[in-house]
Amino acid sequence: MKNLSIKEKAEKILKLKEEKGALILAHYYQNLEIQHMADFCGDSFELAKIARTSDKDIIVFCGVSFMAESAKIMNPEKRVFIPRKDAGCLMADMVTPEIVIEMKKAHPDACVVCYINSSAATKAVSDICVTSSNAVKVVGTLKEKEIIFIPDKNLGAYVAEKFPEKTFYFMEGFCPVHHNLSKEDIKNAKENHPEAALVIHPECQKKLLCDADCIGSTSEILDFCRESDKSEFLVGTESAIAERLGEEFPEKKFHLISPCLVCPDMKKTSLDDLLSTLENLDDEVIMTKEEILAARLPLERMLEAASKK
Ligand code: 13P
Ligand code: SF4
Repeated sequence: MKNLSIKEKAEKILKLKEEKGALILAHYYQNLEIQHMADFCGDSFELAKIARTSDKDIIVFCGVSFMAESAKIMNPEKRVFIPRKDAGCLMADMVTPEIVIEMKKAHPDACVVCYINSSAATKAVSDICVTSSNAVKVVGTLKEKEIIFIPDKNLGAYVAEKFPEKTFYFMEGFCPVHHNLSKEDIKNAKENHPEAALVIHPECQKKLLCDADCIGSTSEILDFCRESDKSEFLVGTESAIAERLGEEFPEKKFHLISPCLVCPDMKKTSLDDLLSTLENLDDEVIMTKEEILAARLPLERMLEAASKK
């Protein structure tokens, strides 16, 4: 398999996908060759919604484990596969159910808002989930005055700023890929490209967001760059976004603000992995009914809140 060309592997993948009746989903941080194989690419909210309504019996999720797990929770009748089971999320690993339970004990009246970048077990002890694209809207629907926001303290701080009437409690959780971006990195990028628009993911530190032209999820960033009449952009999120935009708009320039903006787990999935998953149907996401049911409610609540007018 390894000695096939990229074109031959791609052809095999598309043929197997049809034969097995599979739906391939890919997050926007996946290598471009994986995104090219997908029926849908999206941010975590879009992919969760597509997985929920899929009528295909097999979903192959090219992303990290919490995303594939969320697809299984949303549509438990389907078989969900992840080509790299070892693709985790460094931020999701920073929170455990025990941490949440301790925070709830300290703040019994608070609503637990759980970023979707978390395990099913953590979601199960939370009240409602959010993604980066809907966090502000979803928190805006909550009647509670106190919010425990886990695990991302940066996304949490961004959301908290919009609700000065609420009290937020955070934990020490963050995405190392985004958190390590510094003010200095932004300053240097702006000096080198003074005409460029700054687009940035809210997993970056709050002090970096004030100068941004667009703060948004991966999808929102892509849409902003597609619709903007600017011809140069400073990209403050994972490298695949700059690569994808560069491919879509060869006449525009997309500068990744720092070479550190690479998520090692998102980069694990290769064409060989995807091909092998489709051939062998191994690497299935296996969860018990109880695990699924316990984590489903906060995700369903998110969908309902996010769909409110
Ligand atoms: P999005 O929901 O914006 O795609 O973000 C997912 C993620 O893991 C960002 O690091
Ligand atoms: Fe997790 Fe950060 Fe990678 Fe997103 S970029 S999957 S938050 S480690």
